[in-house]
This record gives sequence, structure tokens and C-alpha cells, in this order.
Amino acid sequence: MSDKPWGGRFREKTAGEVEDFTCSLHFDRRLYRQDIAGSMAHARMLAKQGILSQSEAAAIIQGLAEIRQEIESGEFVFDPAMEDIHMAIEARLSAKIGDLGGKLHTARSRNDQVALDVRLYLAEEVEGLLEDLIELRRSAARLARRYFGLIMPGYTHLQRAQPVLFTHHMLAYDEMWRRDMSRLQESLPRIKVSPLGAAALAGTTFPIDPHVTAAELGFADVFRNSLDAVSDRDFILEFLAHAALIMVHLSRLAEELILWSSSEFGFVEIADAYATGSSIMPQKKNPDVAELIRGKTGRVAGHLMGLLMTLKGLPLTYNRDLQEDKEPLFDAVDTVRSSVQLMAGMLEGLKLKPERLNAALHGGYLSATDMADYLVNQGLPFRTAHEQVGRLVGYAEFQGKELWELSLEEIQRFASQAGPDIFDWLKIDNVVARRTSPGGTAPARVEEALKKVEKELGL
Ligand code: ARG
Repeated sequence: MSDKPWGGRFREKTAGEVEDFTCSLHFDRRLYRQDIAGSMAHARMLAKQGILSQSEAAAIIQGLAEIRQEIESGEFVFDPAMEDIHMAIEARLSAKIGDLGGKLHTARSRNDQVALDVRLYLAEEVEGLLEDLIELRRSAARLARRYFGLIMPGYTHLQRAQPVLFTHHMLAYDEMWRRDMSRLQESLPRIKVSPLGAAALAGTTFPIDPHVTAAELGFADVFRNSLDAVSDRDFILEFLAHAALIMVHLSRLAEELILWSSSEFGFVEIADAYATGSSIMPQKKNPDVAELIRGKTGRVAGHLMGLLMTLKGLPLTYNRDLQEDKEPLFDAVDTVRSSVQLMAGMLEGLKLKPERLNAALHGGYLSATDMADYLVNQGLPFRTAHEQVGRLVGYAEFQGKELWELSLEEIQRFASQAGPDIFDWLKIDNVVARRTSPGGTAPARVEEALKKVEKELGL
């Protein structure tokens, strides 16, 4: 009765709404290249093992190559009555080469097939994302180089804290992206494990060699347990976690760019090409790209949570629930890759406003810690020095003056140990230059750090 490839035991046709509900073709058609590559490797292996004849395998491979061509030229008709891309391609193969097409599925199931396709897809995308991250780091490093020497307030609690080099601030993001890259790289060997040969769940009665297909597909590793091979989606969860974290890093920078481009901060100007206007307020230039990156972070984190919930409590082995892995994965890949690319473009064209950054160095008593350190060098316990400088800052604030605008006599009223060299000591440039501790913001340290990064990035 049924016209389905699996319809042998069915006496009624599938209900239309069931076809709609179960169909994944509209999203998994994106896997066509991987599906065809996997099938070609499978056919070659079947021939090598004497399960198919060489000429049968050759005809199958030829048919698959033509189908790939049909899909790429837009000729291929994606019939929603086909459940998924695997069925659509197999049906087309049989239409082209007759019964022989049906031999391709020997010693294979869609369960190991779909797991393989997603692994092939993700391995490629992770490699692409690694390149995107390199480009982003290059843009950030070029920006850091362009504005080397520029000092800005460093913040804690979003309150001005101590002066730092802008370059030092940018290199903090580089650290995050380096860790992101190392996590992705470490995940690759776990993605590149071929599940092909697990068949439906228990292995197969045919004398297959999973190492042949794996090697052909460029995977160094092969599954060890057939039940795990068809039901494991850890590699997707891992990727979603890494993607969510990359988005969190981008989102923190996006938030800073949004703040910094406000008139209140006015630290940066985002290039026109990366900003948008308002349909009503003619004066507006909005940082929408940064806002969308920040917003999309929620989406990617949501995909991680969603798939965790999908997998929780699934009995072994394959369950149709697993079809729900693809849309979140595809969306996370698209979102994280475009966000990384757009952030790179935005940094490339970012302009800083040195006068505004300079102005922000005033009024926040950014050298107060250094004044306390000065007193410590005179032999005071740090806590006593802290207390004295705190009172001095209170006084200066009341007078509407910077610390260095007070007279020595006024300063000594709070800190009797202060000498005439205190004025030079409190200069912002000196405050920054003194932070020569490892990983600190002194220009000499930051120059070393930036050089290291530039070298890593081939700049
Ligand atoms: N389209 C399905 C998926 O994405 C694969 C089909 C396996 N279906 C099945 N009934 N065994 O997971």
C-alpha cells in the first residue's frame, strides 16, 4: 500500500500531517554533499570487501556524482514526500540506475548514515570557524597596534578604576578567542570519528571494514561500540557549548562597543558601514550590529539548553528525537560564524577618539592606588595608606580638584609622608608605566604581549 522505501509492512498510507510533521528535508538538505560523500565511500568499501562488484559500485558512484551535480545546478526536485535528504538522494539514485540503487544501503542504516553526515558537516564548519576566529583576532590585533600607547580608564563595577592601555584591553579579548580556538581544536578529534558500519544499532552481518570508509572520508578514528555510534550526539552538545561561549565573549565586547559609542562615553566611532540609522530620528547612528551579536548570544545559549533537554532521558539507541539535533546545530553554526565575521569587520573600521579617552582619565582619581603604593614605599602599612588616600580623595572631590592639583601642603595634611616627588608619581603615564608585573599594562609588557600575538597570527 505504502509508497515509502520502508513501506513493506504497512497497509495504509502515511497521513499527510504525519509526513509534514516528520519531514526534515527542508533543513537537512543542507547535508547533501556530506551524504553523497559518505555514500560514495560506503560503496567503495562494499566493493573492496567483495560485497558489491566493482562495476556495481562504479555505477552507484557515477549516479551519486550526477545527483550532486543536479542538486548544485538547482535541477534536483526536493519532494517533501521524501522524509529526509538521505531518502531523497536514495530515491533519485534508484530512479536513475534502477534496482542497483537499492544495493547502496547494504550493511548501512540511516542511523549510522545521519550521524556520519552531521560529523562530516561539523568538522568542516569547525575548521571554517577556526579560520573566522583567526581573522577576528587579526582585526583586533591590528586595531590594538594602531592605537598602541593610547590610555583609557580600566573599570571594575563599571566604575573607573585604574588607567590601562587600550591595547591591553583588546588583548584581553584575544586571550578569550585563543581559548575558544583551543577548545574547538581539541574537539575536532572527537568529531572526526566515523560511525559508519554501526548500521541500525547492532552492527551488520556483512564483512564490512569501517576503517576503509573512515580513511576515505579523512577521519582518523572509527567508533568502538555500535550502540553508542548511532545514539551519540555529545559532539554536537560540545560544539554548542563552545559556540555559546564564543558568543558570550563576542557579546561582552559588543556591549562595550555599544557603551563606548554612546555620547555619554564617546570613546569610539563605529564605521558607517557597520551602523544603521533610525526611520524617524534623522540624527541617529545606531550600533545595531553589536546589539544583534549581543542578542543572538541568547539564541545560541538556548540551542545548547534545548539539545541538552532533548538528549536527557533518551533510551539507547536511535530515537527520532535525535532529528531535533540539526536545526539548533545549523542555526548555531550560522549565527556564531556570521557574528565572528561581523565583529571582525566592525573592529577593522573602528575609530577611537583619543580626546574623549583622555578626558575620561580625569575625575576618577585613577592614580589613588598608586598614591597608596607610594606611601607603602615610605614604610606605611597598606591599610593605613589606603585610609589616608581615601580621606585625601574625599577632600579633593570636595574641592573639585585632581590629586595633582592640590598643593603639597594640602596633601601632607592627610598623608604626612608625601614629598614633592608625589606629583610626578601621580601622572597617569607613570601610573601605567609602573605596572610592569607579568601580564600587566605597562607599555613594555603590552608590547611584548602584542608581539607574541602578532607572531601567532602571522602579522
Ligand atoms: N532524518 C532522521 C534524522 O535526522 C534520520 C532518519 C532515521 N530515521 C529512522 N526512522 N531510523 O535523525
